[in-house]
Amino acid sequence: MTNTPIVPYIEGDSIGPEIWQATKNVVDTALELTYGGAKKIEWLEVLAGGKAFDQTGEWLPDETVTAIQKHKLAIKGPLNTPIGGGIRSLNVALRQTLDLYACVRPVRYFKGVPSPLKEPEKTEMTIFRENTEDVYAGIEFAAGSDEAKQLSDFLENTLGVTKIRFPETSSLGIKPISKEGSERLVKSAMDYAVAQELTRVTLVHKGNIMKFTEGGFKNWGYDMIEQDYPQAFTMNQYKKIAAENGEQAAEDALATARNEKKIVVDDVIADNLLQQILLYPEKFQVIATTNLNGDYISDALAAQVGGIGISPGANINYQSGHAIFEATHGTAPDIAGKGYANPCSLLLSATMLLDHLGWYEASQKITAAIEAAIEQKIVTKDFAQALGIQEVSTSQFADELIKLMK
Ligand code: NAI
Repeated sequence: MTNTPIVPYIEGDSIGPEIWQATKNVVDTALELTYGGAKKIEWLEVLAGGKAFDQTGEWLPDETVTAIQKHKLAIKGPLNTPIGGGIRSLNVALRQTLDLYACVRPVRYFKGVPSPLKEPEKTEMTIFRENTEDVYAGIEFAAGSDEAKQLSDFLENTLGVTKIRFPETSSLGIKPISKEGSERLVKSAMDYAVAQELTRVTLVHKGNIMKFTEGGFKNWGYDMIEQDYPQAFTMNQYKKIAAENGEQAAEDALATARNEKKIVVDDVIADNLLQQILLYPEKFQVIATTNLNGDYISDALAAQVGGIGISPGANINYQSGHAIFEATHGTAPDIAGKGYANPCSLLLSATMLLDHLGWYEASQKITAAIEAAIEQKIVTKDFAQALGIQEVSTSQFADELIKLMK
């Protein structure tokens, strides 16, 4: 790995340029302070969204995708979803084109951030959301369309499906969930747990209702783990031991696994998980889940620890090495250009990029500065309003972080 990687960046729309500038200043300073010029990022601007459309007439120019393909890593601010014409979602297009199958969202609490929880510090986990399959594959047919009618006829006449309640007026969608897709996502979560020396991974699904898709995700996940991770003990194995040798033998095996610091892998139904992350968040360390569940869970957890202004994320293909690190919120047009935007979401995404490069010292420097700033009540308007204190602007916040790092 080079010490001067070229990393393409997409500034993003609306608040994008403000939070990008703040992020870039902080990251460049952290690298300079940590490595004195021996390691640095050469930023390469690539276009997408409104800026791309204004300059090239295209929302997502081919050169942008080519540059990310070539340089492997990229960072992006939020993009407006073009309305009328354009493509459906630039984010989805980028994820699909580069097959970025794991959406990784670490969730942690920064002391001092306004949170709706009494003990928000108990929420600390990383979500691995499958990013390429499920109802998000975009295979949908509008009610009344020829396609919906053909599909409905096929289901009824060829497959004998009689369960569509109102076939004439139903829109229809397809939910593909594959063995490969499930395995590679669960593997990402397991590898992360191994690398971070964590001891619990939870597969989240709705297999009680959707046995072959969501249930498949769970079963393929368990099977792969049992085959490839001798350092794990699954609740599937627990059940097998209980069935063969009784409950006590299974409990003993679980206790031994815990003593040996094995990774205990269990599974939880998605609706139950949404209760449990609120009631007992300390129980969870790594969550591996399907696309739609992951979408809901990520936002719920982000809200628990202070909201979207401080929630980072990355979309990664661990096999090809392609990864895009991104602010998880949208373009916030309501506050654009006012200096109100919190740059932490993009900045913490940048720390994930630094971790990905193995540049942990610089990443930790930034995280420590964010911790110190928030504890000292140096915050942007989103937090200041909730805390009833005076805010600093987006660029002032970046300047304060730089002072704290020095
Ligand atoms: P949004 O996330 O932009 O805004 C929701 C609320 O959160 C607003 O009140 C906004 O002011 C606030 N907010 C968001 N980021 C903030 C930050 N960094 N600091 C302080 N406050 C912040 O969601 P919305 O309004 O639904 O979407 C606006 C546009 O963003 C749409 O065009 C949407 O398609 C796009 N979008 C893009 C995403 C991406 O590029 N990853 C993700 C979600 C939405």
